[in-house]
Amino acid sequence: MTPYSDYIKSVIRTVRDWPQPGVNFRDITPLMQQKAAFRKLIDSFVHRYQEVQIDAIAAIDARGFIVGAPLAYELGASFVPVRKKGKLPFKTLSETYKLEYGEATVELHADAFNPGNRILVIDDLIATGGTMLAAANLIKRLGGEVVECAAIIDLPELGGSAAIEHAGFSVFSVCEFS
Ligand code: PRP
Ligand code: HPA
Repeated sequence: MTPYSDYIKSVIRTVRDWPQPGVNFRDITPLMQQKAAFRKLIDSFVHRYQEVQIDAIAAIDARGFIVGAPLAYELGASFVPVRKKGKLPFKTLSETYKLEYGEATVELHADAFNPGNRILVIDDLIATGGTMLAAANLIKRLGGEVVECAAIIDLPELGGSAAIEHAGFSVFSVCEFS
């Protein structure tokens, strides 16, 4: 929670039955459209991490980029994209994880940061936690120290944030939806 959590949560739109019946999709586009809300969102992360030593922000493809890039700029950290499979051109490390149906892979450039660097992982949302955990594992494999796994939204009932914490990583979210 942050001083702006309730406000930020109120700006997120819920789209019922999208992308399929029974799903309540938490849509962050209004947060970007409303300039005061976008500023308060980025400020919430800046406030949490401005006194913490962070060398790089590892942001997850695609919506993690929206918050990761301005945060890296504000903190004076570098920006590292964690991308979906097949998008990064140089030598990569990859991590595959299970989806409800099938699997997915995220990748990181092998020279994305130096061993021992302190890395904040960021995305828009934690659902099952598979994407965030795969990204955190990639960073560990490359010798980085994961400072925290941060998201705008956590869906705690899906157990993702608990699973990430169980794997030994700290988790922070600006707001939660049940
Ligand atoms: C969404 C979201 C997270 C991930 C969370 O991305 O932006 O990255 O799913 O789900 P999980 O906790 O169950 O792994 P999506 O795969 O829809 O990709 P997109 O950002 O390219 O739309
Ligand atoms: N919103 C955005 N991304 C998601 C969601 C959601 O509600 N659930 C899983 N990925």
